[in-house]
Amino acid sequence: MKIGFIGCGNMASAMIGGIIAKGLYKAEEIIVSDAMDESLAKAKANLKVNTVKDNKEVVKQAEIIVLSVKPQFYEEVIEAICKEVRDEQLVITIAPGKTLKWLDENFGKPVKLIRCMPNTPALVGEGITGVCPNENVTEEELKKAGEILNCFGSYEVVPEHLMDVVVSVSGSSPAYVFMFIEAMADAAVADGMPRAQAYKFAAQSVLGSARMVLETGKHPGELKDMVCSPAGTTIEAVRVLEEKGFRSSVIEAMKACAEKSRSL
Ligand SMILES: NC(=O)c1ccc[n+]([C@@H]2O[C@H](COP(=O)([O-])OP(=O)(O)OC[C@H]3O[C@@H](n4cnc5c(N)ncnc54)[C@H](OP(=O)(O)O)[C@@H]3O)[C@@H](O)[C@H]2O)c1
Repeated sequence: MKIGFIGCGNMASAMIGGIIAKGLYKAEEIIVSDAMDESLAKAKANLKVNTVKDNKEVVKQAEIIVLSVKPQFYEEVIEAICKEVRDEQLVITIAPGKTLKWLDENFGKPVKLIRCMPNTPALVGEGITGVCPNENVTEEELKKAGEILNCFGSYEVVPEHLMDVVVSVSGSSPAYVFMFIEAMADAAVADGMPRAQAYKFAAQSVLGSARMVLETGKHPGELKDMVCSPAGTTIEAVRVLEEKGFRSSVIEAMKACAEKSRSL
């Protein structure tokens, strides 16, 4: 097996979906285990991957292992599989707060570890993953992991001290963006627009604006200025957003998010 996932919930399903859709590995080259029979049945039916109940079986069969359980289960899962992990295997982790040092101590032996922080837009192939390898991982192996991560978006290698920032700026940020879209749609509905149409206008505006930042390379402030004509409608909205502390709210929320990640 090319790759194995321990835990097959939301994130693993998104990653596997992208890997299969991009043709990096075939479904029959992927193996998953999960504590829940229901998740295994879903993986078999929807993704057509190999499923097993025993996490150790994934480690025995797969070249690359992705630990895709919630952080609170990491300790017990690692304790159960650590003896089976082989020198040449790559272990990819996706849990916030689980540092390379913590992982190293819990495995209790040298393991090729790549600490990653993906986000849910991976479900639609638009994720971004923060990546931090340990010293046992070669450039070639990091490239191989990158090919996997590129199947459901893009990735950036960051120093480990920035992984908690990755949590706040991309791991958790889809939640803030969804709130923003919902709030914009609520306002449009309040002004008489049908709800479904309001979500479409709000979401497409966020998508288009994000693409403008990424594709023009222009500073977001410059792009904002382009929309704000003198004495116009947009600058009125900007004035009220500033008065209500919009930017400061986002900054404070993200600092709390990163702090929580550091404390996990
Ligand atoms: N969702 C996100 O936005 C996001 C973003 C970045 C990173 N992550 C990280 O990705 C990881 C997975 O998150 P998720 O949202 O995919 O979680 P999830 O949907 O809860 O999936 C985890 C799966 O693992 C199963 N599981 C629990 N204990 C297990 C064990 N001992 N052995 C095998 N399987 C076990 C769970 O079963 P039960 O339901 O029975 O517990 C569940 O089906 C987490 O570490 C999370 O922090 C998530």
